Amino acid sequence: MNQDDLKRSAAAAALDYVASIVERDTIVGIGTGSTTNHFIDALARIRHRFDAAVSSSEASAARLKAHGIQVLDLNAVARVRVYVDGADEINPARQMIKGGGGALTREKIVAASADEFACIVDAGKIVERLGAFPLPVEVIPMARGLAARALRDLGGQPELRPDFITDNGNIILDVHGLDLGDPLAMEQRINNIVGVVCNGIFAAQAAHRVFSAGPQGVRAW
Ligand code: A5P
Repeated sequence: MNQDDLKRSAAAAALDYVASIVERDTIVGIGTGSTTNHFIDALARIRHRFDAAVSSSEASAARLKAHGIQVLDLNAVARVRVYVDGADEINPARQMIKGGGGALTREKIVAASADEFACIVDAGKIVERLGAFPLPVEVIPMARGLAARALRDLGGQPELRPDFITDNGNIILDVHGLDLGDPLAMEQRINNIVGVVCNGIFAAQAAHRVFSAGPQGVRAW
C-alpha cells in the first residue's frame, strides 16, 4: 500500500463512522487536502442521508458541489455535528500541525464550530513531538516583516510561502525550528502577534478521534 492508499483507507474508516452518526438534518464539516478529498469522494455515497456540508476551503467546496453535496455558509447553520479533516502531524494527545495546504484559518474556524473533530491520517503523520513539519502561519500581507521578526524572537525561522495567497487574501509564513514542546502555549503566543490571522497548531482544537491507516490496517483512537 502506498501513502495515497493509506489516506483512502483512513477516509473510508471515517466515512463508516460518519455514516453511523448522521441524520437527515445533519451538517458535516469538511477539511482540505488530499486525505479529505478521499473522504469527500466517499461521502458522496451517503449524500442523501444528511442535509449539507460546510467547507474549510474553496477547493473542497467545489469538490463537494461536483458530487451534488449542498454546501452552506457556516453562518447559516446552527450546528455542525462533526468536522473531518487531515493533518500534517499529529501527536498522541491528538494535537496537530495543519495548514500544509494553506487552509488553516477556515479549518480552525469550522473545527471550532463542530461538536467533534475526526482526524484522518496515514500513520506516517503520527509523531511523538510536533515540530518537524514547518508551522504554517497566516499573516495579513502588510504585517509580513513585523510578524516574521516576532516569529524569529520565538526561536523560529520563517519563510514566505512562494506564489501563494490564501482564500482570505493573506500570505503564509512557514516557520521552521520552533520548539513545540508545549503546543498550546506556543499556539497562544503566536496568536498574540499583531498581524497574525491564525497559526497551524491545533492544540486548543485538538482532535476528538483519529483514524490512522498503516500497513496493518486502520486504528481508531
Ligand atoms: C490543509 O490546509 C491542511 O491542513 C491539510 O489538512 C493537511 O495539510 C493534510 O493534507 P493532506 O491530507 O494532503 O496530507
